Amino acid sequence: MADRALDNEMVDPRTFGKENRLHEIYAELRREDPVHWTEPDEYRPFWAVTKHADILEIERQSDIFLNDPRTTLLTRQQEADVLEFTGGSHIAIRSLVQMDDPDHRVLRALTQSWFMQPNLKKMDGALASLSKEFVDKMEGLGGECDFVTDVAVWYPLRVIMNILGVPREDEPLMLKLTQELFGSSDPDMQRDEKQAMFDTNVITDFFNYFTKITEDRRANPTDDVASVIANATVHGEPINHIDAMGYYIIVATAGHDTTSSSTAGLLLALLQNPDQMAKLKADLSLLPSAIEEAIRWVTPVKHFFRTATQDYELRGKKIKKGDSLLMCYPSANRDEDVFENPFTFDIERKPNKHAAFGHGAHLCLGMHLARMEIKALFSELLPRLDHVELAGEPSWVQANFVSGLKHLPIRYQMQ
Ligand code: HEM
Repeated sequence: MADRALDNEMVDPRTFGKENRLHEIYAELRREDPVHWTEPDEYRPFWAVTKHADILEIERQSDIFLNDPRTTLLTRQQEADVLEFTGGSHIAIRSLVQMDDPDHRVLRALTQSWFMQPNLKKMDGALASLSKEFVDKMEGLGGECDFVTDVAVWYPLRVIMNILGVPREDEPLMLKLTQELFGSSDPDMQRDEKQAMFDTNVITDFFNYFTKITEDRRANPTDDVASVIANATVHGEPINHIDAMGYYIIVATAGHDTTSSSTAGLLLALLQNPDQMAKLKADLSLLPSAIEEAIRWVTPVKHFFRTATQDYELRGKKIKKGDSLLMCYPSANRDEDVFENPFTFDIERKPNKHAAFGHGAHLCLGMHLARMEIKALFSELLPRLDHVELAGEPSWVQANFVSGLKHLPIRYQMQ
């Protein structure tokens, strides 16, 4: 099936601002051509993989399907910009998601235990008080707010910046940098209007900022993630500067917009499904499964690539060594073969084996933290909300890598 218009639309950031259209495209591909050779005008061609089982088959075999050299969708122009910026390298930032074994295993192990539940438990109190602070803020706003820009973007940012040791006064700068890096195709989030392309200045700013943090944590180590990274040993040597920078950037960026989108997406889904809202408010023990369903529903990470190291047959298609495969997570999470009524938001969905956190060696490092954050916020918010409704049209970020709600205007009464 060759359809250049569809191929262009599938990767166009504007399509990601219209969720229904995106899901229509994916549904068509799952039905007609689930492993689809895609040739958009502005991107190098690739296979778009839209079935849940196929994505897991790829992710399970991290020796055959590598993260490097192609990680996310960059236009040919953006790829050229990276080459120019780096003086010949195909990646501007080298972080866990650009790595394969053996480096990936070693680098990931540095912080793995920090992000596991036993260590994270120590954050329960801090998350509860931060949640209270944000719900108090909502109350102070007097019954109307934009849940995205007033709460959902700031709360996970504060959590992640706390664990990276970034002081509060620098959070607006970090917000701007992470949004520009991830949402750089959205006209509202660009540094300047002309610059709808890979923004190398953002990366320079990140590097400058985290170089200072590294120096500080080497001199004054604490128990935060920044200190773990700054003082890490890799293959018997102190972590090199580029890998340390990549680590800060992946934690800062991966840990923020994703959780914001899921948080706002949960509230919108509850507003659009009042029976589910009533059920959840009546029984908060359903919160963990409601959160899982919200993460499936939103699927904030829209894709990652893998590149084949050998010829491989996937669902009858002949993948050639060197071909790249785009794993379309939102499509996997609406796959009719895996989910009953995939287009129904069901806070009691069981089982819910969504692929929103990926799978295999690169499975999201921060998934337990993300769940804890959302749980803390809604445990505080829902009991205090007497009434809540939409106060305007929600809108979505136009970005094809990580995206979610941009605005969610709500009106509410609180106890
Ligand atoms: C990787 C999703 C929150 C840190 C990933 C991947 C996905 C993902 C899809 C790639 C997995 C793969 O390739 O198989 C999400 C979602 C989140 C979330 C949906 C929120 C609902 C977080 C948080 C952190 C985080 C809070 C905090 C540090 C990371 C890191 C990686 C990663 C470091 C790279 C792991 C690796 O390559 O080994 N995430 N994430 N994420 N995530 Fe998350």
